[in-house]
Amino acid sequence: MSGSEFEQEPKQFERLQKVLARAGLGSRRVCEKLIVEQRVTVNGEFAELGEKVDPETVEIEIDGLKIGVRQDLVYYLLNKPIGVITTSKDPQERSTVVDLVPTHPRVFPVGRLDADTEGLILLTNDGDLTHYLTHPSFGIEKEYLVQVEAKPSRNAIRELRQGVELDDGITAPARVSLVDEKLIKIVIHEGRNRQVRRMCESVGHPVKRLIRSRIGPIVDRSLHPGSFRELTNQELKSIRKVLLKDFSN
Ligand code: URA
Repeated sequence: MSGSEFEQEPKQFERLQKVLARAGLGSRRVCEKLIVEQRVTVNGEFAELGEKVDPETVEIEIDGLKIGVRQDLVYYLLNKPIGVITTSKDPQERSTVVDLVPTHPRVFPVGRLDADTEGLILLTNDGDLTHYLTHPSFGIEKEYLVQVEAKPSRNAIRELRQGVELDDGITAPARVSLVDEKLIKIVIHEGRNRQVRRMCESVGHPVKRLIRSRIGPIVDRSLHPGSFRELTNQELKSIRKVLLKDFSN
């Protein structure tokens, strides 16, 4: 054996169900059940109960969905204030969402909010989860509260619901309700550029104020603008539940 092999740190192998439970997939019992039901693969092979894995290097999928289990993965929920831009580096040195969360490990925003939009945005170093949350095929819901200048007519609400013609095509049906005279709640699952602003403008109601109030199952009414917190395991689990559709544990 060569000297360099002697010097290597021993890898930290752990039982698969423990690794899955820590990643927020449910209790160890629940994770064992997932393994027994052959819903889990490890590096492309069906997992075995009692199998040990190295969480730093292993590739795990549940129902074909990649699950991040590295211990350095972080998931932040930020309430973005107006004026802060959604990018990881701004050449003009304006304040960015990344400036509002810890620098290590480096994280990236999941999707984007306009500079003049407020509200919830996720930041993470889990590239697979970012992909799932932003890819249209997963249809993750985003809920917005939209303040407009005048009470929208029933017709305007109906148009928003059914889909409006924008220059990049008709929008998908949306859930739309009037929360207050000049406050509309819009739930969409597309993520086109300035979509909600353009939708409202096209029905004659330019947006005065736009707040994202929910991302999939994630809401937080007590998170102040400019503040962030880590997602709880329960929240991560609820996101996976939405992504996996029938993730019934
Ligand atoms: N729709 C918009 O128009 N702007 C946002 O920031 C998000 C959704």
